[in-house]
Amino acid sequence: MTQKMDMVKRQVKLAPSILAADFARLGEQVIQAERAGANRIHVDVMDGHFVPNISMGAPIVKSLRQVTRLSLETHLMIRDPDFFFDEFVEAGSDSFIVHWEGNNNLHRTIQRVKSLGKPVGVAINPATPASVLEEVLPDLDLVLVMTVNPGFGHQHFIHTTLPKIQRVRRMIEEVSPDCELELDGGIDADTARLGIAAGAEVLVAGASIFGDREGVDGAMKRLLTAVDVVNKEKESLCA
Ligand code: DX5
Ligand code: ZN
Repeated sequence: MTQKMDMVKRQVKLAPSILAADFARLGEQVIQAERAGANRIHVDVMDGHFVPNISMGAPIVKSLRQVTRLSLETHLMIRDPDFFFDEFVEAGSDSFIVHWEGNNNLHRTIQRVKSLGKPVGVAINPATPASVLEEVLPDLDLVLVMTVNPGFGHQHFIHTTLPKIQRVRRMIEEVSPDCELELDGGIDADTARLGIAAGAEVLVAGASIFGDREGVDGAMKRLLTAVDVVNKEKESLCA
């Protein structure tokens, strides 16, 4: 595939993370995000062991399944994710992201998700080098580069991850061009531009969407405008 076609293919998508939502109004806020142009919904699952925080489980996915047609992307920040896939699939999860860190049998975990017929992504933390992806990349639908340390929303984007994002982009183009490259943590209109320029095509955003004083609509508009500017620049480069 030519470089031009690659650029056209990589239209940037937004994945609002409900971790920052008002849980008393979760359905309403997800519907707002969908109407405002979200491409998928990012569900952050934390167990208090893999990361020092507890968040949500399969019942939330089950409830959200009733209110949105968007894909529910389930980011598992838990020990032993293999024990939980069936429960989440039954609840309505559409895809899974598991971590490289702490998984001694990552290949098995990836194959397990594939056997369930779901797309699978692998996340790497800020201190984890891109090179750990080498053996698993051909099997992946998505790589998630954590741009904060996992466990909490509302953190600042770690700028030193930018060269790694570029490295992962190069690896993907060489080995598995259809694999998506997603960023997670500290994404706002400014860091979105930096991340896209480094090669990302899917952006997770929590605080900058659900934590915005102007509400979900205004926040989505602001982020989409930033993304659109970059998409248009890409299109004009390809014209
Ligand atoms: C962090 C989570 C993120 C988080 C992003 O562990 O994986 O998805 O919700 O939130 P913001 O956009 O607030 O950094
Ligand atoms: Zn996440």
